[in-house]
Amino acid sequence: MSSVQEALKNRSSKRAYLDKTVPKKTIEKILLAAQNTPSGANMQPWVTYAVSDKATLKKVGDAIIETMNSGVENDQFIQYYPLKWVNPYKKRRIVTGAGLYKLMGVDRKDNETRIKMWHDNFRWFGASNVIFVFTHKANIDGAQGVLLDCGAYMQSIMLAAQELGISSCPQGSTTEFGRIVARELGVSDNLALLYSVVLGYEDKDAKINSYQPERVALDESVTFID
Ligand SMILES: Cc1cc2nc3c(=O)[nH]c(=O)nc-3n(C[C@H](O)[C@H](O)[C@H](O)COP(=O)(O)O)c2cc1C
Repeated sequence: MSSVQEALKNRSSKRAYLDKTVPKKTIEKILLAAQNTPSGANMQPWVTYAVSDKATLKKVGDAIIETMNSGVENDQFIQYYPLKWVNPYKKRRIVTGAGLYKLMGVDRKDNETRIKMWHDNFRWFGASNVIFVFTHKANIDGAQGVLLDCGAYMQSIMLAAQELGISSCPQGSTTEFGRIVARELGVSDNLALLYSVVLGYEDKDAKINSYQPERVALDESVTFID
C-alpha cells in the first residue's frame, strides 16, 4: 500500500497499456474511493460512465477520429486549453511536448507521426477501461465551480487507481470532442462531457511510459507570506 505522498510522487500519465481489462470490482473500488472527493455544497456534480466494453470504446474512438479527419477541430461543451497562451505556461507546454517527441525520436516536422500519436488517445492507448466524466449542463451554465470539483474527482480516481497498481492517463483530448462522446455513448441530453481518464495495466516495456515531465521548483508556483 502506498502513502498519499508516494502515490502523488509515483503517479504519471501512461500512454501504452497491455490488452488486459481491469476487473469490475477494482473499478468499483476506485470509483467508491473517489466518491469521497469534496465538492462545493456536497453537490457531487460528477456523472460518471465507466466503460469497459471494447466495441463501445472503438465506436467512440472511431467517431472522434472520423470527425478530426473531416477537418473539424473540436465539438465540445467546455473549452479546456487557454485561447491565448501566455508564459510561463506556453513555454512549459512546449517543453513538455518537445520532451515527449524527443524521447520517442519524433521529428518536430513529422506531422504524420504526431497526429498518429494524438489519435492514440482515441484508441485509449491500448487500454480497455475508460472513465468518462460528465456534469449536468445547468451546472456549467455561467458558472465554473463544478469544474473544480470534477478536477479534484479526477485526481481522486488516479490516486485510488495508483494505490491498486492501476495506471492512468487523464484526457482533455476527449473534452475537445465531448459532443461526439456524448452522442456515441447515448447519454441524456442534459449532460456535458468534461474529460475522461484511461485506466489499465501499463506496458512496462513501452518507452513512452518512461516519460515523466519535471515540475517547476516550489518557489515558481508558491508565495509564502509568513
Ligand atoms: C486535465 C488534463 C488533461 C490532459 N489531457 C491529456 C490528453 O488528452 N492526452 C494525453 O496524452 N495527456 C493528457 N494529460 C496528461 C498531461 O500531459 C500530464 O499530466 C502532464 O504532462 C504531466 O505529466 P504526468 O501526468 O506524467 O505527471 C492531461 C492532463 C490533465 C490534468
